[in-house]
Amino acid sequence: MGVDVALGDRKYAIDIEAGALDRAGELLRPYVRRNHFVIVTDESVAQAQLGRLAASLDAAGIGHDVITLPAGESTKSWKNLEIVTDRLLELEIERSDNIVALGGGVIGDLTGFAASILKRGCGFVQVPTTLLAQVDSSVGGKTAINSRAGKNLIGSFHQPAYVLIDPTTLDTLPLREVRAGYAEVVKYGLIDSPEFFDWCEAHGPALLAGDSAAREYAIQRSVAAKAAIVADDERETSGRRALLNLGHTFGHALEAETGFSDRLLHGEAVAAGMALAFGFSAAQGLCPADDAVRVRAHLEAAGLPATLAAAGVNASGATLVAHMMHDKKMAGGRLPFLLARGIGHTFLAKDVDLAAVAAFLDGAD
Ligand code: NAD
Ligand code: GLY
Repeated sequence: MGVDVALGDRKYAIDIEAGALDRAGELLRPYVRRNHFVIVTDESVAQAQLGRLAASLDAAGIGHDVITLPAGESTKSWKNLEIVTDRLLELEIERSDNIVALGGGVIGDLTGFAASILKRGCGFVQVPTTLLAQVDSSVGGKTAINSRAGKNLIGSFHQPAYVLIDPTTLDTLPLREVRAGYAEVVKYGLIDSPEFFDWCEAHGPALLAGDSAAREYAIQRSVAAKAAIVADDERETSGRRALLNLGHTFGHALEAETGFSDRLLHGEAVAAGMALAFGFSAAQGLCPADDAVRVRAHLEAAGLPATLAAAGVNASGATLVAHMMHDKKMAGGRLPFLLARGIGHTFLAKDVDLAAVAAFLDGAD
């Protein structure tokens, strides 16, 4: 299965295929320069999946060096950016080279950012190994590291040259991480596809249990949705790409309150954030209450947090709204929110009353 991201002279292909990692030597061949790749990965992925990639490159006679970083969100730091760029320069990377990002969103975001600034921009390919990265972060060219002031505040738009998705890499991913990625799958249904949300209700349990057909369909469907949005609004200027932030403003406040730590994974925060966005939309009379109930019930059935309590957050509405004010989407002192008129009918609201949001959160469970 394949999807193209139609971005003119920066267009690229996404291949989705069980076992693709074992064919990486062949699939990555068009992107190799000087018959050598540098692979950036993290310690957990190196243990679980690097051997497959290395064996396939070896079999194809393609040389490779590996830069291995610690696993976890704190890896997206200035310090690791310096480590990676220094090492890439030592390895004499050239602008026409494609650095390989093998890992989840952390490795993809950091490697993409390093590629975007190294020698004023070199290439990279994404080989995502988490469900979240396979359905969202590996596509679309948002790259970033975190800073003291917040998450993803230092970054760039830099599209990969190619994305190779092997759903079987999820076999070694802990279930909690699979669930967190599943929140981003559900997101595509909630944004503009009620029938895909129906599919999630019917097939989500099989996907979470490791069913390969369900997994591949969800990845293909999600990537196709994201590719279409990115092709239409690459830099989030028209508002269409902003729809991908459904659940992220509420979720960002929850992540900030839990210290951007593994107390609450990004996808878990997005799950609770989407339930809260639907709850708030219903409370404002914008969305049928039944839809908000359905969204919450599905996320809970998937083992995801859908309430403040389940997200481990016990803060006032005012505190949570204060976190939201640090969101990078603030524009002219106002914070745009993704709200819903129903399942599959998300819209960007630019005039939300923050006092109403705080009051809603004070009353939410
Ligand atoms: P992650 O990269 O930290 O991966 C989660 C954990 O799973 C890590 O410990 C990793 O080592 C491990 N892991 C990864 N693949 C594995 C495998 N196949 N087997 C065993 N272990 C494996 O987290 P993530 O959820 O993939 O990504 C989260 C990051 O993505 C956040 O920093 C978020 O800001 C970013 N993000 C970016 C975009 C974008 O558009 N660029 C979109 C969404 C999220
Ligand atoms: N994950 C949001 C985006 O790529 O725009």
